[in-house]
Amino acid sequence: MKPILGVIFDLDGVIVSTDNCHYLAWKRMADEEGIAFDRTINERLRGVSRMESLAIILERADKQYTDEEKAAMAARKNSYYVELIGSLTKNDILPGALCTLAMLKEKGIKIAVGSSSRNTPIILKQIDLADTFDAVADGNAIRNSKPDPEVFLLAAKLLNLPPENCLVVEDADAGVQAALAGGMRVLGVGSAAANPNATFTAANLEKANFEMIFNL
Ligand code: BG6
Ligand code: MG
Repeated sequence: MKPILGVIFDLDGVIVSTDNCHYLAWKRMADEEGIAFDRTINERLRGVSRMESLAIILERADKQYTDEEKAAMAARKNSYYVELIGSLTKNDILPGALCTLAMLKEKGIKIAVGSSSRNTPIILKQIDLADTFDAVADGNAIRNSKPDPEVFLLAAKLLNLPPENCLVVEDADAGVQAALAGGMRVLGVGSAAANPNATFTAANLEKANFEMIFNL
Protein backbone atom coordinates (compact mmCIF):
# COMPACT_ATOMS: atom_id res chain seq x y z
CA MET A 1 0.00 0.00 0.00
CA LYS A 2 1.41 3.41 -0.99
CA PRO A 3 1.55 5.95 1.86
CA ILE A 4 -1.13 8.63 1.98
CA LEU A 5 0.61 11.92 1.21
CA GLY A 6 -2.43 13.99 0.31
CA VAL A 7 -6.07 14.17 1.38
CA ILE A 8 -8.71 15.53 -1.01
CA PHE A 9 -11.89 16.72 0.67
CA ASP A 10 -15.27 17.02 -0.93
CA LEU A 11 -16.74 20.32 0.27
CA ASP A 12 -20.54 20.10 0.61
CA GLY A 13 -21.41 17.63 3.37
CA VAL A 14 -17.78 16.96 4.35
CA ILE A 15 -16.26 20.32 5.29
CA VAL A 16 -19.38 22.44 5.45
CA SER A 17 -23.08 21.93 5.90
CA THR A 18 -24.68 23.36 2.75
CA ASP A 19 -27.10 20.49 2.13
CA ASN A 20 -30.09 22.36 3.48
CA CYS A 21 -29.29 25.44 1.38
CA HIS A 22 -29.17 23.28 -1.78
CA TYR A 23 -32.43 21.60 -0.76
CA LEU A 24 -34.27 24.86 0.00
CA ALA A 25 -33.11 26.50 -3.24
CA TRP A 26 -34.20 23.54 -5.39
CA LYS A 27 -37.44 23.25 -3.43
CA ARG A 28 -38.29 26.90 -4.08
CA MET A 29 -37.63 26.49 -7.79
CA ALA A 30 -39.57 23.20 -7.99
CA ASP A 31 -42.54 24.63 -6.07
CA GLU A 32 -42.66 27.60 -8.44
CA GLU A 33 -42.78 25.19 -11.37
CA GLY A 34 -45.29 22.85 -9.69
CA ILE A 35 -42.83 19.92 -9.75
CA ALA A 36 -42.90 17.39 -6.88
CA PHE A 37 -39.62 17.50 -4.95
CA ASP A 38 -38.76 16.28 -1.46
CA ARG A 39 -35.79 15.39 0.74
CA THR A 40 -35.75 11.79 -0.54
CA ILE A 41 -35.26 12.96 -4.14
CA ASN A 42 -32.78 15.53 -2.80
CA GLU A 43 -30.52 12.67 -1.60
CA ARG A 44 -29.95 11.73 -5.24
CA LEU A 45 -28.49 15.20 -5.93
CA ARG A 46 -25.60 14.71 -3.52
CA GLY A 47 -22.30 15.20 -5.37
CA VAL A 48 -24.09 15.60 -8.71
CA SER A 49 -23.58 18.73 -10.85
CA ARG A 50 -26.17 21.53 -11.09
CA MET A 51 -27.50 20.56 -14.53
CA GLU A 52 -27.56 16.85 -13.70
CA SER A 53 -29.42 17.69 -10.48
CA LEU A 54 -31.99 19.61 -12.53
CA ALA A 55 -32.39 16.63 -14.87
CA ILE A 56 -33.21 14.42 -11.84
CA ILE A 57 -35.80 16.96 -10.60
CA LEU A 58 -37.35 17.21 -14.06
CA GLU A 59 -38.03 13.44 -14.08
CA ARG A 60 -41.20 14.42 -12.19
CA ALA A 61 -42.21 17.35 -14.41
CA ASP A 62 -45.25 16.86 -16.60
CA LYS A 63 -44.04 19.10 -19.39
CA GLN A 64 -40.92 19.21 -21.53
CA TYR A 65 -38.56 22.14 -21.06
CA THR A 66 -36.30 23.60 -23.73
CA ASP A 67 -32.56 23.90 -23.12
CA GLU A 68 -32.99 27.66 -22.63
CA GLU A 69 -35.71 27.08 -20.03
CA LYS A 70 -33.53 24.51 -18.27
CA ALA A 71 -30.58 26.91 -18.18
CA ALA A 72 -32.85 29.62 -16.76
CA MET A 73 -34.21 27.25 -14.08
CA ALA A 74 -30.70 26.21 -13.03
CA ALA A 75 -29.66 29.87 -12.89
CA ARG A 76 -32.74 30.71 -10.81
CA LYS A 77 -32.00 27.89 -8.36
CA ASN A 78 -28.42 29.11 -8.14
CA SER A 79 -29.50 32.67 -7.36
CA TYR A 80 -31.66 31.34 -4.50
CA TYR A 81 -28.73 29.19 -3.33
CA VAL A 82 -26.19 32.02 -3.47
CA GLU A 83 -28.60 34.15 -1.41
CA LEU A 84 -28.78 31.38 1.22
CA ILE A 85 -25.03 30.67 1.41
CA GLY A 86 -24.50 34.40 1.95
CA SER A 87 -25.24 33.72 5.60
CA LEU A 88 -22.86 30.75 5.99
CA THR A 89 -20.21 31.26 8.66
CA LYS A 90 -17.46 29.28 10.38
CA ASN A 91 -20.24 27.85 12.56
CA ASP A 92 -21.40 25.83 9.55
CA ILE A 93 -18.10 23.94 9.35
CA LEU A 94 -18.89 20.28 10.13
CA PRO A 95 -17.68 18.51 13.31
CA GLY A 96 -14.05 17.42 13.18
CA ALA A 97 -13.20 19.25 9.95
CA LEU A 98 -10.97 21.96 11.40
CA CYS A 99 -9.12 19.55 13.74
CA THR A 100 -8.55 17.15 10.85
CA LEU A 101 -7.14 19.88 8.61
CA ALA A 102 -4.83 21.07 11.42
CA MET A 103 -3.68 17.50 12.18
CA LEU A 104 -2.88 16.82 8.50
CA LYS A 105 -0.96 20.09 8.16
CA GLU A 106 1.06 19.17 11.24
CA LYS A 107 1.89 15.75 9.75
CA GLY A 108 3.02 17.43 6.50
CA ILE A 109 0.18 15.84 4.51
CA LYS A 110 -1.08 17.98 1.63
CA ILE A 111 -4.75 18.97 1.60
CA ALA A 112 -7.05 19.82 -1.28
CA VAL A 113 -10.70 20.42 -2.08
CA GLY A 114 -12.34 18.29 -4.79
CA SER A 115 -15.90 19.54 -5.25
CA SER A 116 -18.46 19.52 -8.07
CA SER A 117 -19.71 22.90 -6.88
CA ARG A 118 -19.08 25.98 -8.95
CA ASN A 119 -19.76 27.97 -5.78
CA THR A 120 -16.68 26.52 -4.04
CA PRO A 121 -14.73 29.83 -3.99
CA ILE A 122 -17.68 31.72 -2.43
CA ILE A 123 -18.24 29.03 0.20
CA LEU A 124 -14.56 28.79 1.19
CA LYS A 125 -14.52 32.57 1.63
CA GLN A 126 -17.72 32.57 3.69
CA ILE A 127 -16.31 29.99 6.13
CA ASP A 128 -12.83 31.59 6.28
CA LEU A 129 -11.02 28.67 4.63
CA ALA A 130 -10.09 30.41 1.36
CA ASP A 131 -6.35 30.22 2.13
CA THR A 132 -6.26 26.90 3.96
CA PHE A 133 -5.93 24.33 1.18
CA ASP A 134 -2.84 23.56 -0.92
CA ALA A 135 -5.10 23.12 -3.96
CA VAL A 136 -8.71 23.61 -4.95
CA ALA A 137 -10.33 21.66 -7.80
CA ASP A 138 -13.99 22.50 -8.33
CA GLY A 139 -16.91 22.51 -10.71
CA ASN A 140 -15.51 25.53 -12.56
CA ALA A 141 -12.47 23.58 -13.74
CA ILE A 142 -13.96 20.28 -14.90
CA ARG A 143 -16.08 18.95 -17.74
CA ASN A 144 -17.31 15.71 -16.17
CA SER A 145 -18.70 15.65 -12.68
CA LYS A 146 -18.72 12.78 -10.15
CA PRO A 147 -18.93 9.76 -10.52
CA ASP A 148 -16.31 10.69 -13.14
CA PRO A 149 -12.94 10.96 -11.36
CA GLU A 150 -11.94 14.18 -13.18
CA VAL A 151 -12.21 16.55 -10.19
CA PHE A 152 -10.14 14.28 -7.92
CA LEU A 153 -7.53 13.60 -10.60
CA LEU A 154 -7.21 17.35 -11.08
CA ALA A 155 -6.84 17.88 -7.31
CA ALA A 156 -4.11 15.19 -7.15
CA LYS A 157 -2.33 16.78 -10.10
CA LEU A 158 -2.48 20.21 -8.45
CA LEU A 159 -0.99 18.63 -5.31
CA ASN A 160 1.70 17.04 -7.47
CA LEU A 161 0.81 13.59 -6.19
CA PRO A 162 -0.04 10.31 -7.94
CA PRO A 163 -3.65 9.18 -7.21
CA GLU A 164 -2.37 6.12 -5.29
CA ASN A 165 -0.90 8.46 -2.67
CA CYS A 166 -4.21 10.28 -2.14
CA LEU A 167 -7.14 9.69 0.15
CA VAL A 168 -10.51 11.21 -0.75
CA VAL A 169 -13.11 12.12 1.90
CA GLU A 170 -16.66 11.99 0.52
CA ASP A 171 -20.28 12.05 1.70
CA ALA A 172 -21.82 11.14 -1.67
CA ASP A 173 -22.00 7.70 -3.27
CA ALA A 174 -21.18 9.37 -6.62
CA GLY A 175 -18.02 10.75 -4.98
CA VAL A 176 -17.00 7.37 -3.54
CA GLN A 177 -17.35 5.89 -7.02
CA ALA A 178 -15.35 8.79 -8.51
CA ALA A 179 -12.48 8.38 -6.04
CA LEU A 180 -12.22 4.63 -6.65
CA ALA A 181 -12.41 5.17 -10.42
CA GLY A 182 -9.48 7.57 -10.04
CA GLY A 183 -7.41 4.92 -8.23
CA MET A 184 -7.65 6.58 -4.82
CA ARG A 185 -8.66 5.29 -1.41
CA VAL A 186 -11.79 6.85 0.02
CA LEU A 187 -13.16 7.60 3.45
CA GLY A 188 -16.96 7.69 3.32
CA VAL A 189 -18.63 9.98 5.86
CA GLY A 190 -22.23 11.13 6.38
CA SER A 191 -24.49 9.44 3.82
CA ALA A 192 -21.49 7.58 2.37
CA ALA A 193 -20.66 6.05 5.77
CA ALA A 194 -22.97 3.22 4.71
CA ASN A 195 -21.32 2.74 1.32
CA PRO A 196 -19.87 -0.80 1.20
CA ASN A 197 -17.36 0.22 -1.50
CA ALA A 198 -15.67 2.91 0.61
CA THR A 199 -12.19 1.90 1.77
CA PHE A 200 -12.86 3.39 5.21
CA THR A 201 -16.01 4.77 6.80
CA ALA A 202 -16.90 7.02 9.73
CA ALA A 203 -20.03 8.90 10.78
CA ASN A 204 -18.14 12.19 10.30
CA LEU A 205 -14.62 13.60 10.40
CA GLU A 206 -14.73 13.82 14.19
CA LYS A 207 -15.26 10.06 14.42
CA ALA A 208 -12.71 9.09 11.75
CA ASN A 209 -9.77 6.99 12.93
CA PHE A 210 -6.91 8.63 11.00
CA GLU A 211 -4.35 6.76 13.09
CA MET A 212 -5.69 3.52 11.57
CA ILE A 213 -6.12 5.01 8.09
CA PHE A 214 -2.52 6.22 7.92
CA ASN A 215 -1.08 3.00 9.30
CA LEU A 216 -2.78 0.78 6.78
C1 BG6 B 1 -22.05 19.31 -4.92
C2 BG6 B 1 -23.37 19.10 -4.20
O1 BG6 B 1 -21.04 19.54 -4.01
O2 BG6 B 1 -22.15 20.43 -5.81
C3 BG6 B 1 -24.48 18.95 -5.21
O3 BG6 B 1 -23.27 17.92 -3.40
C4 BG6 B 1 -24.52 20.15 -6.14
O4 BG6 B 1 -25.72 18.80 -4.53
C5 BG6 B 1 -23.15 20.32 -6.81
O5 BG6 B 1 -25.52 20.00 -7.13
C6 BG6 B 1 -23.08 21.51 -7.74
O6 BG6 B 1 -23.17 22.67 -6.99
P1 BG6 B 1 -23.27 24.15 -7.59
O7 BG6 B 1 -22.92 25.01 -6.39
O8 BG6 B 1 -22.26 24.26 -8.66
O9 BG6 B 1 -24.66 24.34 -8.07
MG1 MG C 1 -20.70 16.24 -0.82
